[in-house]
Amino acid sequence: MTAIGSTTLVLAGTGKTGRRVVAGLEARDVPVRVGSRRADPPFDWEDESTWEPALRGVDAAYAAYYPDAAFPGAARDVGAFAEVAVRCGVRHLVLLADRGSAEAERCEQAVRDSGAEWTVVRVGFITQNFSEAFLADLVRAGTIALPAGDVAEPFTDAEDIADVAVAALTEGGHAGQVHEITGPRLLTFADAVGELSEATGREIRYFPVTREQFLSSLIGRGVSAEYATRLADLMVEVFDGRRAHVTDTVERVLGRPPRDFAEYARDTAATGVWGRPPLSPPAKPDVFGKPEHRSTVPT
Ligand SMILES: NC(=O)c1ccc[n+]([C@@H]2O[C@H](COP(=O)([O-])OP(=O)(O)OC[C@H]3O[C@@H](n4cnc5c(N)ncnc54)[C@H](OP(=O)(O)O)[C@@H]3O)[C@@H](O)[C@H]2O)c1
Repeated sequence: MTAIGSTTLVLAGTGKTGRRVVAGLEARDVPVRVGSRRADPPFDWEDESTWEPALRGVDAAYAAYYPDAAFPGAARDVGAFAEVAVRCGVRHLVLLADRGSAEAERCEQAVRDSGAEWTVVRVGFITQNFSEAFLADLVRAGTIALPAGDVAEPFTDAEDIADVAVAALTEGGHAGQVHEITGPRLLTFADAVGELSEATGREIRYFPVTREQFLSSLIGRGVSAEYATRLADLMVEVFDGRRAHVTDTVERVLGRPPRDFAEYARDTAATGVWGRPPLSPPAKPDVFGKPEHRSTVPT
């Protein structure tokens, strides 16, 4: 729990969960330092000389690793960061970790071993990947291909993750706890994409693909071979059914139910981030594969 008036460093403070943690802490009048390469002072996981200046005067930290706590080498960096943090006087570390990943478990252990009070916020696939990450372009394009077969995943909303992290950072009773957070329902990717279709009024399709097909599509879209390989390996590692169960953590910690995927899809579609729905049903291709002429003005 953060002492009154002391500063909390929020790593990935411009990202999906971090910026919501920043907003949640500010709403409680907790002084916040945004951890970002663009902040002043900057924080860069790849430049250890930035860590100490970012940690100076900080009492607690939300530790979200980049690129991913499940990627090889993450535990080494998280352990080194935790060591510097404790040396700088940080008393409480709240780690964001991936459910069901061996490397993320090593990150958790590194934080436990640091000597600071710790809380782990363990999550699976973050719902906002569909609107605030690389999948947003695929939703707009109408085709989502992932090596996730027909596995069920309890898509987890970044709002719930941030609210639990803020509770851990500002209230007593969270030290030494692993908060494993899920959404309220299991959905396959086909189910989730179907709900996105319904919310947007546009046809969006899901194609299960192999690791190799996914890898070559990422590389084809300009993603580095190293990052693409790690992401493909992570998806194959975790999308085998090991995360196909829901928890009651959000209800237990926050006293309210987790946000449902359908609510996310409806609210996010209304922002226009995926484009506006068509005014009339999409044109069916004619026998030559060209769209039939159809007026877009509703009659
Ligand atoms: N996405 C998921 O579904 C998911 C699931 C489970 C766990 N997680 C965990 O969530 C964490 C964040 O991943 P995310 O994919 O959700 O990304 P994100 O937090 O939405 O965005 C990445 C953040 O990292 C920062 N960043 C990028 N490069 C950095 C660097 N070299 N040093 C410091 N900060 C850097 C970016 O800030 P600037 O560009 O401003 O520096 C941005 O705030 C990871 O540790 C991952 O293990 C994610």
